[in-house]
Amino acid sequence: MFEALKPIPQDPILAMMLSYREDTNPNKIDLGIGVYKNDQGHTPIMQAVQWAESRLLERETTKSYTAPAGSPLFNELISKLVFGADHPALTDGRIVSAQTPGGCGALRMGAEFLRGCNSESRVWVSTPTWANHVPLLGGAGLEIVEYPYYDYDNKSIRFEAMLTALEGAKAGDFVLIHGCCHNPSGADLNREQWDAVADLIERKGLIPFIDMAYQGLGSGIDEDAYGVRMLAARMPEMLVATSCSKNFGLYRERTGTLFIVGENAEQTRNAGSQLFSKIRSHYSMPPSHGAAIVETILADEKLETLWLDELEGMRNRIQGLRQGLVAKIAASDIDADFSFIQQQFGMFSFLGITPEQVEALRTQHSIYMIDSSRMNVAGLNDQCMDYFVDALNEVLKGS
Ligand code: LMR
Repeated sequence: MFEALKPIPQDPILAMMLSYREDTNPNKIDLGIGVYKNDQGHTPIMQAVQWAESRLLERETTKSYTAPAGSPLFNELISKLVFGADHPALTDGRIVSAQTPGGCGALRMGAEFLRGCNSESRVWVSTPTWANHVPLLGGAGLEIVEYPYYDYDNKSIRFEAMLTALEGAKAGDFVLIHGCCHNPSGADLNREQWDAVADLIERKGLIPFIDMAYQGLGSGIDEDAYGVRMLAARMPEMLVATSCSKNFGLYRERTGTLFIVGENAEQTRNAGSQLFSKIRSHYSMPPSHGAAIVETILADEKLETLWLDELEGMRNRIQGLRQGLVAKIAASDIDADFSFIQQQFGMFSFLGITPEQVEALRTQHSIYMIDSSRMNVAGLNDQCMDYFVDALNEVLKGS
């Protein structure tokens, strides 16, 4: 039977990660996969995480099963982080959450849940969006429709076109929106735009599905959650997928959360029971170690403060790199405006160069980014900045 199988091309982001690892050039730069890197180009374990892990090692007494929803304490603390401790949807019992295997698990289980609610509803995703959104949501059987989002020429959001497209959605359709740090563009909705999108969603009876994988890496924990918190206060129903991969640096521990916001406490409980049953039939229950680390941090004031300080350091470093890169390019021979990079948020921006130029950066200079020219700004550092700008200059001149 297997002889009929054809190889499937690798996910472009993961393929890039492997090519980078195999490159022996000592000057190589990894601007591909979205992981945070420090000044030495290393993805460190956060100190708060290390402390929490050593505490866990001392205190953990069992490896027995948890539950499809994961750890109740994790769910409680992460809900407060995402929505804010006093959010009315939380205090009214309108939010149920499940610890999931990473943000991917949250997105997939959210899609499975939504398809179970209405198999006719479509999910609208931004153009462009994170490459894995389509297989994660489409794989659950949801029909995917696109709305325009990023204007490659003007390096900004095509906001009017986005609204016009969403006018074409029908009641009950789902709208996937990046909560902050849009992946791949770094172009985020401002508060007025969030409010206008909420007006449209409310008027048309759509259901928001927010993917917030980078809370705290854009403008701050509370600032980045503006859209999620505002929508949860206004909308009768919504879903939110979050991840601890980036803000806690727990990538390989696969720690995420899916939140369902319902119209009232009873409907929310029922929705939760549907979700937990889906989880049971997919992977039974999530892995526990990453969530145990997160709850240890969030339950301890000192550890939480340490973590927030470290996160602030990461955020400031990324913003500093954005400014530094724009300044270095402006001071170089490059005759093009890259100032948009310092107006964007989170790890990613499109450099706005052609796929051929991206390839030249890779083959001639060992600089790795996705073919779309999405670069992970956090992969830059003071040591490699000049090399990067010189290589960019060379490649731009060569074409
Ligand atoms: C990315 O976009 O690079 C990250 O979210 C990592 C991934 O799994 O694709």
